Amino acid sequence: MRVAVVGRGGREHALRTVLSRTARVLSDDDDVAGADLVIIGPEAPLVEGLADRLRADGQAVFGPGADGAMLEGSKGWMKDVLVAAGVPTARHRTFTKAEAGAAAGAGGMAEFIAELPGAAVKTDYLAAGKGVFVSADPEALLADAQAKVEHGAVVIEELLTGPELSVLAVCNGKEFVLLPEARDHKRVGDGDMGPNTGGMGAFSPVPGTAPAIDAAALMVDATLAELQRRGIDYRGVLYAGLILTPDGPRMLEYNVRFGDPEAQVVLPRLTSDLAELLWAAAVGDPLPTPTATADACITVVLAAEGYPTSTRTGDPVAGIDQAEAVEGVTVFRAGIDAEDRTSGGRVLNVTAVAPSLTEARARAYEAITHITFPGMHYRKDIAAS
Ligand code: AMP
Ligand code: GLY
Repeated sequence: MRVAVVGRGGREHALRTVLSRTARVLSDDDDVAGADLVIIGPEAPLVEGLADRLRADGQAVFGPGADGAMLEGSKGWMKDVLVAAGVPTARHRTFTKAEAGAAAGAGGMAEFIAELPGAAVKTDYLAAGKGVFVSADPEALLADAQAKVEHGAVVIEELLTGPELSVLAVCNGKEFVLLPEARDHKRVGDGDMGPNTGGMGAFSPVPGTAPAIDAAALMVDATLAELQRRGIDYRGVLYAGLILTPDGPRMLEYNVRFGDPEAQVVLPRLTSDLAELLWAAAVGDPLPTPTATADACITVVLAAEGYPTSTRTGDPVAGIDQAEAVEGVTVFRAGIDAEDRTSGGRVLNVTAVAPSLTEARARAYEAITHITFPGMHYRKDIAAS
C-alpha cells in the first residue's frame, strides 16, 4: 500500500515512521494522487475540507470531512454535540461579540464569570491549542474574554481540576477502536507553570487510568452515535481530551486528528499494523483491534527561544545523530528545516521506548544532553509524576 501523510510536524514524522513498517510511505513531494491512502495530520486542512475534496476525486482518506472537523473548528458546536450526546463536560456558555457587549449588564460575560469558581476562556475559532486562558481571577478572565471576542465568538466554561488524559479513537463512520492512552503536558514550564502550548511532552501508558478509559469509550460511543444522527460519516481520529475530576472524568474537548505530541508516544507502542487499521477506517471496513507493547514510551519537546509567545527561528541545531545513538531513542523532527535550522516553535521530539517509564525517561533525558541550539528549552518533568 502506498500512503501519503499530509503535514510536516513531529506527529507526521511519527506517523510516517510507524506506517513505513508495513506500507510504502511516499515522500513529501509526491502528489497525493499517487497514494492508495491519504492521511491528513493537522486540523487546519481538515476544517477547510481537504478530506472532502480528495474523496470527491475518489481518494481513500483518513480524516473527517469539514462537517465532522467542526468538532475542533468550533468549540461552541463541539459543546452542543457533547450536550446532545449526554457526554459529561464542563458547564459553559458561548458569547458572540454582540452578546459580549452586555458585559456589564444582565446575561453578559461578566455575570457568567461571576457565577463560576474559576473559568476557561476559549476562542470559538482555531487557535493552534493556544487559544485557552484558565484562571480563577474574574478580572483577568473578563479581560481575556473581551480581547478574544473582538476576533470571534468565545466559549466560557467552568474551571475543572484534575489530571488530564488523551484517548485516541480510530473511527470508520460507525464504529471505533481505542489506541493506547497518553498524557500530555500542556504548560510551557516545569510544574505546569506558564502559558498553555500545543504540548511540551507526553507519555504512554498512563498508570491507573483503566476506569477513565472505560468511561471515555462510552463517551466516544455516544458522540459517534450523535454524529451519525446528524448525518456525519466520521472517518478519522476522534481524540478525547479528558480531565479526571474528583467527580469523575469529564470531556474537555474533542480534536479531530492525532494528538501532537501524543501520537509520538502512542504510535511507536503499536505492535499491530497501523496502515491496515487506517485503511479500514478510511474505507468504512470493520476495524482490526489494535495491539500494543507493554513497553513505555515518552517524548520530550525541545522548543525554540520564545515559544509559545513569540518564536525565534533560524537557529542551528546540533547533535541529533548522537541523541539517536542512545538505546531506544528516536528523534522526531517538528520545527526544523532540511539544513537543521529551527523553523517552528516545537523543534524536536526526543522519544524513547523502554521496559518501564522510569527507564524510558532516563533514556530520553540522556539523549537530550547531546542536542544543542541557541534558546533551546524543554520541560525536565515529563512523566515525572
Ligand atoms: P482545550 O483546547 O479545550 O483542550 O484546552 C487546552 C487546555 O486548557 C486543556 O488541556 C486544559 O489543560 C486547559 N483547560 C481547558 N478547559 C479547561 C477547564 N474547563 N478547566 C480547567 N482547565 C481547562
Ligand atoms: N497535544 C494536544 C493537541 O494535540 O492538541
